[in-house]
Amino acid sequence: MKVLVIGSGGREHAIVDALSRSPQVDKLFCAPGNAGIAQQAECVAIKDTEVERLRDFAAAEGIGLTVVGPESALAAGVVDAFKAAGLRIFGPTKAAARIESSKEFAKRLMAKYGIPTAGFRAFTDYAEAKAYVAGRPMPAVLKYDGLAAGKGVVIARTMEEADAALRDMLLDDKFGEGKVVVEDYLEGPEFSLLCFVSGRRVWPMVLSQDHKRAYDGDEGPNTGGMGAYSPLPFITAEDERYAVERIMRPMAAAMVEEGCPFEGVLYGGLMKTSRGIEVIEFNARFGDPETEVVLPRLKSDIVDIFCAVADGRDAQLEWHDFATLGIVLASKGYPGDYEKGHAIGGLDRVEGTVYHMGTKADGDRIVTAGGRVLFVVGRGATLAEARERALADVARIECDNLFHRTDIGHWALDE
Ligand code: AMP
Ligand code: GLY
Repeated sequence: MKVLVIGSGGREHAIVDALSRSPQVDKLFCAPGNAGIAQQAECVAIKDTEVERLRDFAAAEGIGLTVVGPESALAAGVVDAFKAAGLRIFGPTKAAARIESSKEFAKRLMAKYGIPTAGFRAFTDYAEAKAYVAGRPMPAVLKYDGLAAGKGVVIARTMEEADAALRDMLLDDKFGEGKVVVEDYLEGPEFSLLCFVSGRRVWPMVLSQDHKRAYDGDEGPNTGGMGAYSPLPFITAEDERYAVERIMRPMAAAMVEEGCPFEGVLYGGLMKTSRGIEVIEFNARFGDPETEVVLPRLKSDIVDIFCAVADGRDAQLEWHDFATLGIVLASKGYPGDYEKGHAIGGLDRVEGTVYHMGTKADGDRIVTAGGRVLFVVGRGATLAEARERALADVARIECDNLFHRTDIGHWALDE
């Protein structure tokens, strides 16, 4: 079978890597891909939102399966377009992807179907939102409703901070016209539960945890994620069962009831609070960088799973026992402004796995081409061993414009 992966980051590199382990794959394409992906797949110069070009390419090449990485492609309607053309694709339709693209849609569904999450209200009017927040305990959680690339959430500790954020979101239309969801503040460790979902069928993957802040000690600005690991020793088997049976399965069933059945990866961003496990957010795709530590642990043939989801069949998931821990190497300045084009050396000396997040070939050199640049994954019998190996590999990589966190896994290892 010929397989096409859509996207260009570390997540897509991990998907390509998992596909390349399948004996069912004859030829792998990635659109648009990156310099690391190019070593395992043929990169095609089509952007992830160029829906018609992607569809025409898949039809002309006789692609038997297309796998969508990024939310931007889902929001552009790539799944709807492929399905209309009779092409097999793994991912949710635009209507089902609203579970991620509209916070209000997600919150209303959770309320309607009794799925545990923070209390919330949605507002379009600045004065009404401000009055509501003023009557609630601080901190206040303010979420801009729409796609804002992870930048639409503000945790306001004071009324002044809340007011400034509400002004940005509702008066100045900094993000474009929209709504704000005001949520109760929850506390506890966060973790990610990614599930393959096909209608009411739900296959949970192994648990993982992201690290969203830029610097050690969970300090600094929020980012797309600076590191991840799997498994999670602080989540018990009972917690996991609860999360699957009371959150993920009911949500999949709710989507069927609502007339927009979900196909693809449903990502539960969950928190273990003192009241139990609650939902922070749902995403409609593989997490990044969670995917890069989860898929290396998958023992089953991923093609069987992608096709089972797309065709509505059953599948079995088997996992390796080893632990994985990955560290992001990001451009200095990220998540703010950063330079591109710095040469990267030492990749051939790395002993574990490196997934490319934002790189480009420049003649025979590989250069930085994004905020998050590389993801270095160590594996070991224990998380401690996996971290040691990842840090040793990070030290083998040479580049004068990268930084990384040294404490990935601290929730599991250092506390
Ligand atoms: P989101 O984009 O919804 O994932 O939010 C980004 C981050 O904000 C999350 O990873 C949490 O750390 C934090 N956050 C979101 N909602 C809440 C909440 N209700 N209580 C506490 N923290 C939250
Ligand atoms: N790692 C967070 C996300 O993929 O949204």
